[in-house]
Amino acid sequence: MRASILKVENFAKHFRLHEQNKFIPSSHDVNLTVYAGELTALIGPTGAGKSSVLKGIYRTYLPSAGRILYRHALDHEIDLVHASDHQILELRRCDIGFVTQFLHCLPRQATLDVVAHPLVTLGIAREEARRRAAELLSAMNLPERLWSVSPATFSGGERQRVNLARGLIARPRLLLLDEPTASLDPATSEIVIGLIEDLKAQGTAMLAIFHHPELTRRLADRVVELSPPPALAKSLEKECA
Ligand SMILES: Nc1ncnc2c1ncn2[C@@H]1O[C@H](COP(=O)(O)OP(=O)(O)OP(=O)(O)O)[C@@H](O)[C@H]1O
Ligand SMILES: [Mg+2]
Repeated sequence: MRASILKVENFAKHFRLHEQNKFIPSSHDVNLTVYAGELTALIGPTGAGKSSVLKGIYRTYLPSAGRILYRHALDHEIDLVHASDHQILELRRCDIGFVTQFLHCLPRQATLDVVAHPLVTLGIAREEARRRAAELLSAMNLPERLWSVSPATFSGGERQRVNLARGLIARPRLLLLDEPTASLDPATSEIVIGLIEDLKAQGTAMLAIFHHPELTRRLADRVVELSPPPALAKSLEKECA
């Protein structure tokens, strides 16, 4: 039996848009486990709250309910819901990677530096970090002429490769992937599938949202299906009004 790295228990998230006096239900009653060297796939219809779960784990948002237990390399467990901002920043630097659905980047930073950044924050010399970034971008077939340009003006598929390279380069213990191949052509998707398989073999724990059922079938060791927010949301909406 492999070691569990992450346990999400009874996670829920809703949003309150105070200025519009609106209640927006998102994820509810999510339970999942992610193991070292395995991939857990999160599936469900659009709007079911899949991205919200990943953002909750990465602490982009605080959940409305539930526990998010992360098992540290030192073998103690930390509830990410109650971790301090400092602890979260350390975990993001050393342990947890997130390939978001959409890449947000600085307009003036060269692609090579965007990808090398996670290694630099780990203390690896900039030139060595850039060399490894170049290796990865080349493996992902991102044309070399783009490496010195900011990804801000890239096409969807080019951006997605930069986003992936940045997420994978430091080989995090836990990797969150939000539709990592959605904008890629079949050949490039195959390359990414190969990289995900390599990471699994090296022991990375992954929680991934996939666009295509075929990817879930090929890569997932476990599948967790989210259902859309329940009708209960209606009554909460009234309560909020
Ligand atoms: N920051 C936010 N503020 C308000 N509502 C939000 C916010 N983020 C997400 N939501 C709402 O929460 C619900 C779930 O969104 P989420 O992005 O988690 O869905 P998803 O399952 O990832 O969908 P998709 O498959 O389309 O990516 C949606 O109704 C969305 O509008
Ligand atoms: Mg999403």
